[in-house]
Amino acid sequence: MRTRVIAVDPLAPDPAVIRTAGRLIRRGRLVAFPTETVYGLGANARGERACARVFEAKGRPAEDPLIVHIASVEAMAEVGREIPDVAWLLATRFWPGPLTLVIKRSGRIPRGVSAGGDTVAVRLPAHPVARALIEAAGCPIAAPSANRFGHVSPTRADHVRADLDGRIDLILDGGPSPLGVESTVLDLTGPSPVVLRPGAVSIDQLREIVGCVTVATPSRQHAHSPGTATRHYAPRARLEAFDGPGARDVAMARVRALLTEGHRVGVLADDEFVADAPAAAIGTSLGQRNDSAAAARLLYGAMRHLDSLAVDVIVTVLPRDEGLGRAIRDRLNRAAEGRVIHVPALAAAGQERTPALG
Ligand code: TXA
Ligand code: MG
Repeated sequence: MRTRVIAVDPLAPDPAVIRTAGRLIRRGRLVAFPTETVYGLGANARGERACARVFEAKGRPAEDPLIVHIASVEAMAEVGREIPDVAWLLATRFWPGPLTLVIKRSGRIPRGVSAGGDTVAVRLPAHPVARALIEAAGCPIAAPSANRFGHVSPTRADHVRADLDGRIDLILDGGPSPLGVESTVLDLTGPSPVVLRPGAVSIDQLREIVGCVTVATPSRQHAHSPGTATRHYAPRARLEAFDGPGARDVAMARVRALLTEGHRVGVLADDEFVADAPAAAIGTSLGQRNDSAAAARLLYGAMRHLDSLAVDVIVTVLPRDEGLGRAIRDRLNRAAEGRVIHVPALAAAGQERTPALG
C-alpha cells in the first residue's frame, strides 16, 4: 500500500482534502491525523473490519482497547450507554480537549474497539483538523496513537511516516501536535472516578469538577487499561531517570561517568542542564527549566531524535509532580522501566555518588 501524505493548515484545513479523508474513513480505510495531544490513527468506529486494520497496522495486541473520537458532546450517547451524570458534566467542562472518559459501551460500537470489553473510551478532540475529519466522516473515529505498538507516540507527521509508511492509506500533516502528551484517561465505570493514565488535563483540574478522583496504581492501571503497561512510550536506548532535590547534580555526574565508560550518551533535559553537560554528550532540549508545557511538547520528538542518533543511554531528570509534570513523569517512568534513581537533597550538597545501575 502507498501511504499518501497531504499537508493541511492546522487551523483551517482545506475542505476538499478533509472530504477525501472523511470518505476514506467511512469506507473502512486508515487515516492518520493530528490531534492536540498526539497524532491518531483513525478508522470508522462502527466498522469491525476497519478497527481490526488499526490493530494490524500498529502491530497492537487485540486486548488493548481503542479510544473513540466524536464530533460533539451529544455524540457520546451513540458510543456509550447508561452514561452517568458526571460524564456529561466532565464532557461539558473539558471537551473539546484532552480528556478521555471510560463509560459503558453501546451496542452500536463493535466489541473489537473495546478489545472485547463492556466499556469504551471516548473523547472529543480540540484540534480543528481532527474535528473537521470526524464531521466529514459522518461516523465516530476509533483512533489510538499513530505509532507502532510500544514505540514513542508521534507528535509530527514524519513520526507517523517513520512508523507506519506503507501500512496506512493517508497521513494528514497538520504540523506539530500542540500539547505533545496523550489525553488523561478517566474511568467512570466504577464507584468513583479513577485516572487510568495521567495526561494533559491535570488531576487538580478534574478534582475541581468531581471532587474525589483517585489515581490508579500501576497494577490496577494495567488490569483496567492495558495501554498503561510499563515498557510503553519507550525509546530504543536505555533510559535512566533521576528524581528528587539532588537529581540534577547526580544526573550530571552519571553523564560524565557514562561518557568515561565509552557510552554514546543522550541527555534529555532543560536548556540549562543541556548547556552544562559535557560537549561529548548529545543534548536534546525540553525547553526552559520548570516549563512543563514546553517539556510535554518536546518530549516525544526528543526521544525519537536521540534514537535516530543511535545513543545507547539517555539520562534524564524528572520534572516536579504537578500539573503536566505528572503526565511527563508517568511517561518517563515507563520509558525508564524502573531505572529511576531517587536523590535526596543531601546528595546535592556535594555527596555525589554514582548510583548502582544494571
Ligand atoms: O491523546 C490521546 O488519547 C491519543 C489521541 C490520538 O487521541 N490517543 C491515544 O490512544 O493515546 P492510545 O490507544 O495510544 O491510548 C489509549 C489508552 C490506552 O492506555 C488504553 O488502554 C486506554 O486508553 N483505553 C482505551 N479504551 C479503554 C477502556 N475501554 N477501558 C480502559 N482503558 C481504555
Ligand atoms: Mg498509544
